[in-house]
This record gives sequence, structure tokens and C-alpha cells, in this order.
Amino acid sequence: MIKVSPSILGADFLNLVPQLEIMKAAGTDMIHIDVMDGNFVPNISFGMPIINSIKKHTTLPLDVHLMIDQPHRYIKDFATAADILGFHYEAGSPVRSTLTEIRKLGCKTCLTIKPKTEPSEIFEFLELCDMVLVMSVEPGFGGQSFIMNSLQKLSTLKAECEKRNLLVDLEVDGGINAETAVLAVNAGATVLVAGNYIFNSDNIAETVKCLKSLNPVHP
Ligand code: DX5
Ligand code: ZN
Repeated sequence: MIKVSPSILGADFLNLVPQLEIMKAAGTDMIHIDVMDGNFVPNISFGMPIINSIKKHTTLPLDVHLMIDQPHRYIKDFATAADILGFHYEAGSPVRSTLTEIRKLGCKTCLTIKPKTEPSEIFEFLELCDMVLVMSVEPGFGGQSFIMNSLQKLSTLKAECEKRNLLVDLEVDGGINAETAVLAVNAGATVLVAGNYIFNSDNIAETVKCLKSLNPVHP
């Protein structure tokens, strides 16, 4: 079944506790947490204090998406609250040792690529990945439109993981809605991140249920 990871960038931050409860009741699989440093991306969000508080208020796994320069400097700090800890291939950290450290600290790993990065650049790291995140918008802001060539990247990664006999979740993030979710799942996505689409929905439970019930249709 497809997993759904609502991005709290779309939430009302002073109303997080009830919104986390709504997500749990709606059947989401995890909570997607976007950390932005104003350097790697042209936006600043929040850091450890907020994530530690979120951890206290939900039993849902935390799917932390680091959009920060040289993330290896902060892995230990984020690993205390994260369940899945993701960082960008392009962010200037040694990829292999950072993935290894994340696993050693007891978190699942997620290697993330920006829209202009070719999936083949990360093939050599797939054995160390529990999840790969394909960004379907330029990272930094919610509410952007889905970039269609992400679909090809998902298919390429799916094929490579199958070839290597690896069970790696393929997550897609940015511009997910009813239409793009179908395309992403058909291309191989197993985890859908959605911010605006879920948080602005009039019926969050129904929206999450529809996303979770998508099945890949093969031509
Ligand atoms: C963008 C973030 C996304 C964002 C998604 O850099 O990584 O997680 O919140 O927002 P929507 O679903 O609104 O595009
Ligand atoms: Zn994200």
C-alpha cells in the first residue's frame, strides 16, 4: 500500500498538536518535516527544538528532510528525534559515510535528489538507502507545480532497485495532488509527500485514504 507523509510546512504551526492528531486519525504513515537553512535553499523553516516537540506529541514516525548545507555536521542532533533521516546528495557531505552514520544511530536513511540531478549519480549508494527521495519541485517552498520529468527519475530508480534486488522506498515530494499522485505511483513512487494538498483539503481523512489506495497501473 502507498504510504503518505504529510509535509507540516503546509500546517498552521500554532495549531500543530490538533493537526498531528488529525493526521494520525486520517491514517497517514509518517510526518514529513522540512528543515531549511537559508543557504542550501533560499528559505528558512525550523530546527531541532520544533522537531523534538513534535516527537513528544505524536507516535507517527518522523520523516525528516534536511535541506541544509553539509548536513553531516548535524546528523547526531537530528537522529535523536528522526525515524527516517534524509539529506541531499548535492549538499556537500560525504554521502557514503553520512548514510552509514545515520544507520548506526538507529535511523532509516533517505538520500534525496534535486530535480536537475540524474538518478544514475546515486546508484552506487542504493545499498545504503532505506528510501530515496525524488524532489518533484526545486526544494525550498511548498505550493509549487510538479515537474514532470521526475516521473522518469522514479522509473529509472525503481528499475535499478529491482535489478539490484533492493527494497528501497521511493518517495516523491513537491506538487503532489490527485492527478500528480497517480502519475507518481505509476512511475514507481511508494511514499507520497503532500503539504498543501492535504492541509488545505476540506476532508483530510478522505484525501489521505484516496492517496493510500492508489495502485500502480502498468501499461
Ligand atoms: C519543498 C518541501 C516540500 C513541500 C511540499 O522544499 O520539501 O516537502 O512542503 O509542499 P507541497 O506538497 O505543497 O508542494
Ligand atoms: Zn520535503
